[in-house]
Amino acid sequence: MGAHYGVAVTARPSAPTAVDVVARALRDELAGVRARAVGGRAPRVLDVGGGSGTWAVPLAGEGCEVTVVDSSANALAVLRSRARDAGVADRVRAVQGDVDALADIADGDGGADLVLGHGLLEYVDDPVAAVRALAVATTPGGAVSVLVAGRWAAVLGRVVAGRVAEARRLLTDPAGRWGAGDPMLRRMDTDEVRTLLERDAGLVVEQVRGHRVLADLVPELPDGASAGAELAALEELAGDTPPLRDLASRIHVLARRSGER
Ligand SMILES: C[S@@+](CC[C@H](N)C(=O)[O-])C[C@H]1O[C@@H](n2cnc3c(N)ncnc32)[C@H](O)[C@@H]1O
Repeated sequence: MGAHYGVAVTARPSAPTAVDVVARALRDELAGVRARAVGGRAPRVLDVGGGSGTWAVPLAGEGCEVTVVDSSANALAVLRSRARDAGVADRVRAVQGDVDALADIADGDGGADLVLGHGLLEYVDDPVAAVRALAVATTPGGAVSVLVAGRWAAVLGRVVAGRVAEARRLLTDPAGRWGAGDPMLRRMDTDEVRTLLERDAGLVVEQVRGHRVLADLVPELPDGASAGAELAALEELAGDTPPLRDLASRIHVLARRSGER
């Protein structure tokens, strides 16, 4: 699995590349699915709000059977084109629909081994209903991977950009928004994501990590490869170390549905 996962939505072009802790968590999860699979069956991935395929296309390239459910016809058109270009069109199913209607869309095969909700909870009307839908679409013993914008990183980002009034609103607004024009309906902290997945969706949280704790704060590195490697190693450590973890641009949680795998 390559470090290109998730880059399209996370990285500023000038920012140094960080170790992708999310890609690593998914890779480990899928290795477990493959090890348990009967008859070499391909892992089934359901990517809800998968958009243009930032995660879905590389996962299909790794041999997964991926269904993307997204409410945007435009995003799905880009997804189909990217899947064709990558030679994985036969392993990517694109379905236009809302997370609220996931139960009607899911193909009735007992659920997916891995369900992604990356960059989704910031935009849905009802996050509790959304995480419940993700959980129900997961096969017993399977995993749900959620990636959501971190509210504290947004505060720091606004201050660094000199937008102090917006930073204050982000800090005090219960939903972590900077104002009415904010395209995101909410940002979350680690406790909020954990509560959603455990209390509201009945999942067991196994990992909580910060995705891009430091890299988005570094405008450029003094010299190439070794500084990049040092930052990547530090990033990985910070993503696992509260309270630095909780300051990440995005919070990643891997949670499991109970039951026999
Ligand atoms: C920020 S993009 C994230 C794309 C991709 N998951 C990623 O991480 O790169 C959010 C996506 O969620 C989709 N979306 C928003 N609300 C949705 C809903 N209620 N049901 C399904 N998809 C939704 C949008 O169309 C968009 O493609």
